[in-house]
This record gives sequence, structure tokens and C-alpha cells, in this order.
Amino acid sequence: MKVKPTASESQLEPAASRLRCISCGSVSDSASQNFRCRRCGDLLEAFYPNWNIEGKLRPAGLDAAALKSLWRARRKSLLPIDQSGVWRFRELLPSVTDSASVITLHEGNTPVYDLPSCARSAGVDRLFAKHQGMNPTGSFKDTGMTVAASFAKQGGFRWVACASTGNTSASMAAYAARGAMRSLVLIPEGKISWGKLSQALDYAAVTCQLRTDFDGCMGILNEVVERMPVYLLNSVNPYRVEGQKTAAIELLEHFDWDVPDHVIVPGGNLGNSSALGKAFLEMKDLGLTSRVPKLSIIQAEGANPLVRLVREGRKQLRAVEAETMATAIRIGNPASWKKALRILEATGGSVEEVSEVEIAQAKAEIGGDGIGCEPASAVTLAGLKKLVKQGIVKPSESVVLLLTGHLLKDPEFTLKFHRGDLFSGTQYAEDAKILAPHQRAPIIVDASVDTVMKTLEQAEKAE
Ligand code: F0G
Repeated sequence: MKVKPTASESQLEPAASRLRCISCGSVSDSASQNFRCRRCGDLLEAFYPNWNIEGKLRPAGLDAAALKSLWRARRKSLLPIDQSGVWRFRELLPSVTDSASVITLHEGNTPVYDLPSCARSAGVDRLFAKHQGMNPTGSFKDTGMTVAASFAKQGGFRWVACASTGNTSASMAAYAARGAMRSLVLIPEGKISWGKLSQALDYAAVTCQLRTDFDGCMGILNEVVERMPVYLLNSVNPYRVEGQKTAAIELLEHFDWDVPDHVIVPGGNLGNSSALGKAFLEMKDLGLTSRVPKLSIIQAEGANPLVRLVREGRKQLRAVEAETMATAIRIGNPASWKKALRILEATGGSVEEVSEVEIAQAKAEIGGDGIGCEPASAVTLAGLKKLVKQGIVKPSESVVLLLTGHLLKDPEFTLKFHRGDLFSGTQYAEDAKILAPHQRAPIIVDASVDTVMKTLEQAEKAE
């Protein structure tokens, strides 16, 4: 039996990428410390000139059918890079030339579930969830982190860093530790969940809780990376975006390349919507699919700069002071708004905002289907309900929600919700009364068989 890969098998196939500015189009092979265009300061994106062979797009010289069967065959491989649901698709990723630099925790390979009762509540026939919370550190960030952290390792960096609402920091800290690099985390003090903070600590990050919000943390980090050789791992890093594309590839592979009508994503810093959209467009260009799904982005009402930009028809994003209990998306000045806007236009998707009460209800409903997610992920279901009411999503169309984080990321939110405390003393207390049927507070009773039996009977009657 062969267990270990041979040296030649462990080589990564080349997928040479270059970087291009999304505004002025300048092309380069290396990025500045802050991953901004050296000429105009806008964001960069990766592209692959060598996909084009004699006028046809063929990554690694392979056509669509050959790519599909190669990716499927890799599912049986014992190589760590094949067991990763990210590196399995490496023909569509930037190459790490030295395979020893690849840092993988077997990310990706996340499940797609159907959501029968959520489908009924939203009014659609076919509703699915791609659960990115089932990644190694419990969020979608791992799919991008494996790629970008591997680039940091290959570049010989000792330190990596990010500003975060919690999930990026948890993921970065894990991949840095795994790759024997040090990590610096900047998080807004008091505004991230304990679950996420504790992950960063356990994975040995130097964790600074700054008395500011996410946008303030980002501003400070941008200056730090100018002064120190620290590798920036926020989603302005185009290699993270490339890794996050793979959730879209996996999703379509799951449906045997049959494209769903709608994909719905939460919007925070807007890296993930940009990544998924880029993947859908690339897959169509490569002939892997015949069309793209409409990709819609949902924000919390209190953190809605993209919604405002689109509704008010402005050309420039105006930052907002963000406030939402869905702390993962408490972001008022999203870095990737131009990329996200382009994806909305290219796929015909919509933007929508949802209230705090709508988020809480949607989260409980997803839990009721036995799936569960963190609050930021639940905006997708809340947003879907609105899109159905507006006729933007038709009942007969197929819909996929991107659930971005695991239920256990924010147990405090869930406990407060079920105890009925989440909105007490807030402006939402009155509206929150509609949540009562979804609340299941723990019941404290005497330790006797009779009381437990009585509780059971009461619960049965209440159904
Ligand atoms: N859902 C979850 C659970 C998140 O953690 C985030 C972002 C998003 C959605 C939004 O994704 O920023 O790509 O639009 N979390 C970042 C962080 C900002 O620092 O963990 P996005």
C-alpha cells in the first residue's frame, strides 16, 4: 500500500497568475505591502494569461471535460493537496511553486444541505445551504487563508496580520500556527464573539483589542504593514479571494454542473461575494457551465453601505457608522465594494438589507432545519424572504444560501435569543415579540422523573 506521495506527485501543477488593478488595469507580478495598485491605489485581482491557448481557454492545457474528471478523480487521492477542497481545484488558482509551502488543514469539502422548512417559510420550492461554517476553523475564511497564507510562507514572511470582526483572525491564526509563522490580530474591542476571540488566542496569535471598530482596525493595520515586513491577510489580498472562489466550484460540482438560479451571500467587507462571483464568471468563460447564477448580497440594516450605494445610484461608496448584532458583518467601509458592484452587474443579482429581528428569526429557522449558523450567515435567509416578496426570486427557482459561519461561533447570541434577552432594553424590543414561537429557553426543574415527564407532556401539547 502506498501511503506517502512521491516527490514528483507532490509537485503542484503550474497555474501562473499575474495581478491586475481593477481600476487602471496596470499589470504586475508582485504586490505592494498593502495590496493596492502602485499607480492608482485601487485593489488588485489575479488573472491567468496562460489559460489562453491558441485562442481557447484551457487551464493547464485541459478543456472543461478534462478538468471536471481530474477534479473528481482527486477525491480518491491520498495527497494532502488533493484532500483539500481548495487545492483540488488548483488549475484555477495561483500556483505556489514550492509544494512544501502549502499550508492546508483539509479545508473546503463542505456540505450542501436542503432546507425544507426554511424553503416553506421563504416561499420557494428548492432551497439549499452551502455550509462554509463546516471548515476547519468554522468559517469560509479557511478557503482563502490556505492560499494566501501559503503565499506568505513561500515569500519567507515571519509575521502575518489582519484586522478582523473575528473569523478572519481565527482562520489566519490557525494557518499561521500551522505554517510556523507568527500572527498579529487587530480586533474591535468588545464587538467580537468570545468563540472567535478564543480561537485566535488558542492558535497563539498576538491579539490586540483596539478601542475602535473594524474600519478603524483596518486603517491602523494598513499603516503597520507599511512600516514592518508583515504580510497582510485581509481580503484585499487577491490570493485570499482566489481561494474563496473554490466554494463556488465545489457547489456546482455538487449539482453536477447544473447552475442554480440564485446564490445569496452575506455582505461585510465584500471579499466573499467578489470571490464567488469571480468563480461563477470564470467557470462560464472556461465552458464548465453554460450560465451564471444571479448572485445577491444581503447586508444588515445597520451596516448597509452597499445597499445605500446601489439605491442612491452613487458612483462612490459613502462609509456608514456600522452597528449590528451580527458582529461578523459590522463593517461600514467595505474594501471590496467595487469588485462586489461589478459582480452584481455581471450576474444580475440584487442587494437587500434586513433588520436585526429578521436576522434573529432567520437564524432560529435555519437551526430548526437542523443546520444552524452564526447570525451573519442568517441574513441570507432573511434577505431571500424579501427577494421572494418583491418577485425578484420566483417560487419555482432554485436558491442556494451561503452559510458563512458555524452556529458555535456565537453561542451568546443564541442563548440570549432563546432566553428572550437579545432585544430587551433595545429599540427592537416591541418588534421582537414576534420571535416568541421560535424561542426555546432551557427549563430549570427539579431532578425527578415526574417533573421531566410533565415537562415532556407540556411540550408535546404545545406543538
Ligand atoms: N459572514 C461571516 C460569518 C463573516 O465572518 C464575514 C466577514 C462575512 C459573512 C462577510 O464576508 O467580509 O467577505 O463580505 N468577516 C470578516 C472577518 C470581515 O474579519 O472575519 P465579506
